[in-house]
Amino acid sequence: MSDSRIIPNLSSWLPRIGLSTLIVCLASGIVLAFYYRPAGDVFRNVEEITTHVPFGWFFRQLHYGAGQLFVILMLLHTLDHFLKRRYARYPLRVWVSLILAVLLCLLTLFTGFILKGDKEAVFAGRIFMNILQTMPAVGIPLSRLFIRSGEDFFFLPYLYHCLFLPLLIIYLIQGHIREWFPDKGFMTAGVVGLFLYAFWIQPDPAIPPGAMVESVKGPWFFLGIQTLLKFLPPLMAGIIIPGLVLMGVFILPLTSGKRRAEDGGGVHLKTDWFRYTILVLIVIYGTLTLKAAIWGI
Ligand code: HEM
Repeated sequence: MSDSRIIPNLSSWLPRIGLSTLIVCLASGIVLAFYYRPAGDVFRNVEEITTHVPFGWFFRQLHYGAGQLFVILMLLHTLDHFLKRRYARYPLRVWVSLILAVLLCLLTLFTGFILKGDKEAVFAGRIFMNILQTMPAVGIPLSRLFIRSGEDFFFLPYLYHCLFLPLLIIYLIQGHIREWFPDKGFMTAGVVGLFLYAFWIQPDPAIPPGAMVESVKGPWFFLGIQTLLKFLPPLMAGIIIPGLVLMGVFILPLTSGKRRAEDGGGVHLKTDWFRYTILVLIVIYGTLTLKAAIWGI
């Protein structure tokens, strides 16, 4: 028996399980949207969904687990493409659309984090608004497109989270997906795993918006930026540095692209420095994130 049969093929498992978690996430999100109100006392509304709505706690935890797992699997799937230099096979336009879709997945997770309505959520929303507003000229109008202070604080994140972002993600990845429904095995594994998770694992306790706490943490993927914000101005930590890394990832197909594919994947030291620079930056960001998650910011 060949190795590929014995060792599970991770490259093909990641996107298939990812699709099954996306389906669970969308279905549970639709259930939550019937009860969620993005105005008034949002924290209380979310607490009521958890305690008063039949199985509300279950659907919240199911949606949370499915959303997190979906995005983590998409990040690993992208990393797998990166490490195996698969970007070389893609035309620039297609690669940029796919990376954009991954970014929008992170934005969906971020807006979901805001929708919780607790102290951490309000804090994360305000930091996001402040970072956007530091952009010269376009900052304030741009931030108003995503989030506003006052009564309507949750409304735009709600609209993006439940409607615009999922639709845009599906639009961007449609050409990349061969089968929208993973075969029965993957679908069952995803559904059973997530249902068991939602039944057994307790969510972290929510912090009421008015509570006094020593420090407030953002979502896990934001912790690296939160750490940088301690040392650098918001424009640098939140826009310029992430923007430059992102630009680097966008243009990867141009740096080794078709030439590498045609050559049969031989090592090109001249172009590999670019790839290694991106890799080092990803490792640095991962280390900052882990450090903040373990030892605090
Ligand atoms: C790619 C798709 C999606 C992802 C990754 C995602 C992820 C998340 C996450 C992580 C949360 C925070 C949950 C918590 O911390 O308790 C959340 C909240 C929420 N999501 Fe989604 N979601 C997605 C799509 C949707 C859709 C399509 C809808 C509705 C049609 C929806 C409705 C909601 C609602 C109402 C909340 C707030 C209630 C709560 O916090 O439990 N989501 N989402």
